Amino acid sequence: MVTISAIKADVGGFVGHGAVHPRLIGEAERRIGEAIAQGLLLDGRVSSCGDDVNMVMTHHHGVDADVVHHFAWDAFVAMTAIAKELHLYGAGQDLLAEAFSGNVRGAGPGVAEMEIAERVSEPFVVFAADKCAPGAWNLPLYKMFCDPFNTAGLVIDSKMHAGFVIEVHDLIDRRRALFHCPEQMYDLLVYIGTPGRFVVKHVFRRDDPDQPVASSSTSRLSLIAGRYVGKDDPIMIVRAQNGLPAVGEVLEPFAAPYYVAGWMRGSHNGPLMPCGLQDATPARFDGPPRVVGMGFQLADGCLVGPRDMLGDVSFDRARGIALEMADHMRRTGPFEPSRLPAQDMEYTTMPAVARAMEGRWEPIPDTAPIVATP
Ligand code: F6R
Ligand code: MG
Ligand code: MG
Repeated sequence: MVTISAIKADVGGFVGHGAVHPRLIGEAERRIGEAIAQGLLLDGRVSSCGDDVNMVMTHHHGVDADVVHHFAWDAFVAMTAIAKELHLYGAGQDLLAEAFSGNVRGAGPGVAEMEIAERVSEPFVVFAADKCAPGAWNLPLYKMFCDPFNTAGLVIDSKMHAGFVIEVHDLIDRRRALFHCPEQMYDLLVYIGTPGRFVVKHVFRRDDPDQPVASSSTSRLSLIAGRYVGKDDPIMIVRAQNGLPAVGEVLEPFAAPYYVAGWMRGSHNGPLMPCGLQDATPARFDGPPRVVGMGFQLADGCLVGPRDMLGDVSFDRARGIALEMADHMRRTGPFEPSRLPAQDMEYTTMPAVARAMEGRWEPIPDTAPIVATP
């Protein structure tokens, strides 16, 4: 068995919240090299999306392993020290715990992991997004694993025809449920259409419920900290081919950009724009939100790749559409649906404004009913 761990955190932005400084990437790569030499990791790669550092690692320690999470935590702490030295913006913003306590889950960094029996050929894609929220993967995961208009294999590949099992987490009440699709697709949609609360955590094959075929991060930083401390930009791992969605079916949902919550100040909706790794540098109004896709083949636990999947020219039109959608949203500025509903905003001046308004509101007088005269 081999475990794939994709762990990400924002430990300081360059410039503002827009990108990661190359020295942080260099530090993470150096530490991964050491960990491979020491036998802790089989392999690892470092990339960034916006102000988030993404580490994709393989090892034999299983999911939620102390040693691997501790390694990632220490790497983020070391990157924070560099971020502080360079006075980068928001240095250490996602490291919420005072000290590492066994697991980075709930401590701030986002984690997607899966332990699998490596197939003869094991293609998978790690997606990472910025200016976003964890439920941002609900729509593409639904399309990949439940929608025959996206995934032809659901209809014409006998190895996929039975469908998939979708595990959904409720981030507010901390509970989970399984949905067997296609039979329970409508029930599933009732929940995952509210991506701020219900998020797809894992997807399984129906005949092999022990090994996830997709795994996403689900943390919601504002809920962990009880206050706004940075956007919970998500990461996910999706396996492909041979009884699973083809690589092209895994990528297809990103050809039709959709709106996600998390643009400017975590308080605006914006189009999720697919882009190449070099272009994952949000700028306009701190965005628009970005998604990158890193394609890998596993070779005895080692990573062959990444290939920059969403940088391909076939996503050029999607980028143009996303930019048009961004124009539409920007036109309505501080009004919904550009601005999020009040309860979902990460920043608000409402309590202070409401206090200042005290005494200035007065009841609306009852108006006399309008009686039609004969
Ligand atoms: C959104 C995001 C940015 C910041 C914005 C203000 O997720 O990260 O849009 O919210 O740049 O940042 P501060 O309050 O740090 O000045
Ligand atoms: Mg940041
Ligand atoms: Mg970010």
